[in-house]
Amino acid sequence: MKLLQERIRQDGLILSDKVLKVDSFLNHQVDTQLALEIGKEFARIFGDQPITKVLTIEASGIQFAMATAIALGVPFIYAKKKKAVTLSENVFSASVHSFTRQETYQISVSQKYLDPSDKVLIIDDFLATGAALAGLVDIVKEAGAELLGAGCVIEKSFQEGRSLLEKMGVRVHSLARIASMAPGEIHFVEDDIL
Ligand code: G4P
Ligand code: NA
Ligand code: NA
Repeated sequence: MKLLQERIRQDGLILSDKVLKVDSFLNHQVDTQLALEIGKEFARIFGDQPITKVLTIEASGIQFAMATAIALGVPFIYAKKKKAVTLSENVFSASVHSFTRQETYQISVSQKYLDPSDKVLIIDDFLATGAALAGLVDIVKEAGAELLGAGCVIEKSFQEGRSLLEKMGVRVHSLARIASMAPGEIHFVEDDIL
């Protein structure tokens, strides 16, 4: 998505060869027009399929899941994060290990909001190690729902997230795929500029 790539070049802060800060327009302060365009783009990419629900994880996936759900005319659900292991019986849950933060947490979705008739599109802001998204995939499977794909706003293609998800049989589409970066320079995976 050209508009997004240009914005990343303009306003993204590359902290190291691994970490990109997009706080000023994506995940702290949010450019709402850009978020809506991102939602329309995901709807264009995945909208040929009969999606019934969009699923994300709190916190910074929410604005993009909402924009996508609006464009598709369906509800969205955000999985909740909890440190405690005490989960009620009425939830689907998965365990996620964050390599960045060196901690494991639980994510959960009420059983009221996903069932075997659902056709789910997962949306998130970053695809890095893929651990959080893999947890969402587990939840969709546990619910017996059908997973139609996963859309990520920014993919760090030099990390293992995409291959992890593809091994799980997930169709992945990212709007900006970073091949490599270093302070002052960023390279996108070429075929994404089409
Ligand atoms: P994952 O998201 O691919 O599963 O893996 P990882 O454990 O590596 O990521 C931990 C958190 O850091 C995630 O947010 C992820 O979105 C975020 N993240 C990963 N790489 C970057 C990056 O280069 N820049 C920024 N800004 N964030 C990155 P989270 O724990 O789910 O938290 P939240 O922010 O959604 O609340
Ligand atoms: Na996130
Ligand atoms: Na994040």
